Amino acid sequence: MNNSIDNLLHETRRFEPSAEFRATAVASADLYARASEDRPAFWGEQSAELLHWHKPFTKTLDWSRAPFATWFEDGELNVAYNCLDRHVEAGNGDRIALNWEGEPGDSRTFTYAELTAEVKRAANVLIGLGIGEGDRVAIYLPMIPEAVISMLAVARIGAVHSVVFGGFSADSLRARIDDAQARLVITADGGWRRGKVSALKPAVDAALAIGATLNEHGEPGPTTSSVESVLVVRRGENEVDWFPERDLWWHDEMAAAGEHHEAQPFPAESPLFILYTSGTTGKPKGILHTSGGYLTQAAFTHKNVFDLKPETDVYWSTADVGWITGHTYVVYGPLANGATQVIYEGTPDAPHPGRWWEIIQKYRVSILYAAPTAIRTFMKLGRQIPDAYDLSSLRLLGSVGEPINPEAWIWYRDVIGAGTTPIVDTWWQTETGAMMISALPGVTTLKPGSAQVPLPGLKIEVLDDAGTPVGKNAGGLLVVSEPWPAMLRGIWGDPDRYVETYWSTFPGKYFAGDGARLDRDGDIWLLGRVDDVMNVSGHRLSTAEIESSLVSHPRVAEAAVVGAADETTGQAVVAFVIVRVEQAGDLRQEADALAAELRTHVAGQIGAIARPKQVFIVAELPKTRSGKIMRRLLRDLAEGREIGDTTTLADTQVMSIISTNIKA
Ligand code: WT7
Repeated sequence: MNNSIDNLLHETRRFEPSAEFRATAVASADLYARASEDRPAFWGEQSAELLHWHKPFTKTLDWSRAPFATWFEDGELNVAYNCLDRHVEAGNGDRIALNWEGEPGDSRTFTYAELTAEVKRAANVLIGLGIGEGDRVAIYLPMIPEAVISMLAVARIGAVHSVVFGGFSADSLRARIDDAQARLVITADGGWRRGKVSALKPAVDAALAIGATLNEHGEPGPTTSSVESVLVVRRGENEVDWFPERDLWWHDEMAAAGEHHEAQPFPAESPLFILYTSGTTGKPKGILHTSGGYLTQAAFTHKNVFDLKPETDVYWSTADVGWITGHTYVVYGPLANGATQVIYEGTPDAPHPGRWWEIIQKYRVSILYAAPTAIRTFMKLGRQIPDAYDLSSLRLLGSVGEPINPEAWIWYRDVIGAGTTPIVDTWWQTETGAMMISALPGVTTLKPGSAQVPLPGLKIEVLDDAGTPVGKNAGGLLVVSEPWPAMLRGIWGDPDRYVETYWSTFPGKYFAGDGARLDRDGDIWLLGRVDDVMNVSGHRLSTAEIESSLVSHPRVAEAAVVGAADETTGQAVVAFVIVRVEQAGDLRQEADALAAELRTHVAGQIGAIARPKQVFIVAELPKTRSGKIMRRLLRDLAEGREIGDTTTLADTQVMSIISTNIKA
């Protein structure tokens, strides 16, 4: 790690903003100075300027109950009104809000007036189902317009959404439904993925059937879950089972619902959504975000980091709404700013590997926000694919989710950005709610591979283990040292875990879980997670969660999971498994079949995103004398490196046993 970072830090290429870009740039250098004078006051100014407050706030930050913050506490607003109605009232109702592209090539367009009308109806549907302020609604949908409409309808009535990524299994969905005690699930029959319909409703049925008794027809009896109704959008047109006492078609309910709905104001600290993310234990954390502060930072960063000109830009974030990027930079940031955007249902390679570039050409996309994994995949496929399309509309590129290596950064700029577009590498997390570290286009001189500088209004430091800020040209742990508007307000139902996870490493400072290094100029380079959390294709996965899934398999006695470096996905899940002795059988012959079975087992339990890339059946695991698994050594093995220092192992023979095992 340290060798490669030293190589990276020798990266000398610098890209000054062009005079042309600078001349019309949205951001300006004085934002930094204004913000550092008085951070809370700066955010107050931004909030008043960027949002409509039904009742203006008189307070900004209250940190007296740290680490529990409030922002703009006595103000009242409606998040959906800010994203919709006010643009229509300002005369922009005919501006396109969403250009939706289905995977098979069908498309739908919504102006701001049309999207507002849809959300009003959907709000009435929710009210009709008895959903009100503070109630939780689980959303388990493909990337279709109804995902955006549902989220905004929930927000509009002061309810709380919990979007669960469609790639999660029935078990994972159920755990999230239970934790939040959701009363309603909004799903679809299915959606298009990789050239075919992938069913979603069966997973909802299975999730809700867990723990329910079956009647004589094999149908689940009264559910043991908190869910009263399931709203089903028709998209895949695949056959679905139907439970009339619980299931409702979205289109029927929408047709029957009234069109009028006036948005009511809610207090700034009203919960807006819960989004689950993996931590270092097996149980995902329900990250809680509230309304006024979150929307302020979402709108501010979306406008300044993407240099948004809402009248002319066409913005596309390729993220799914199931992740935080899909919340902040598909729904809330862009719509609060009145942007025109593209959303796409499918995978980048369906029906052909030029699909993304075709979409950019079709809609004249000017701002693209994507993950390094995707960029590296395209790099491997070769530039002849994007070169076949007209990408001249692009003027700004963004990157998020994992470090972008300088080589991929340069390729992104040269091949996708015609060698001229600025690239903003944006560091943030589900917990931070919005971007925290990024260059400002038109202001910052860009440096490939570094996320660079804290955004205006944020204080970020790199500390050593003792909590002392490291100087330039040194590494340590990344912390946020002052509260910020979009910060998480807690972990749903578990305030102690919130304090323990984020605020106990360095009292008074938020510890993000990432390692970082300052270069000679003081710019920040992210070095990846320092805890047992993996980052696969920009998605966070917990080693503990996958290990506990593996040991739930009847043939597994013990399991250790590591994130091994992977050229394309950043990290890949690699599992080491010890099989139960009484079940061992003839392992040599069976190992491949068992490995395949275990990969499927994990995918079934957690979701396809967690499926290990490799499973090694081994006789031993490397442990310290206190019984802690030494993942570092397993990582060495998985990455094909010389095994590092083994002196703290309880049994120093064990690594050679494992490596002979693996090679056999
Ligand atoms: C973790 C957060 C932020 C939305 C997507 C992921 C890593 C994120 C970067 C970046 C280096 C990055 C960090 C962070 N990460 N952006 N630009 N450079 N690393 O959200 O699932 O909450 O994961 O992703 O390790 O802690 P998430």
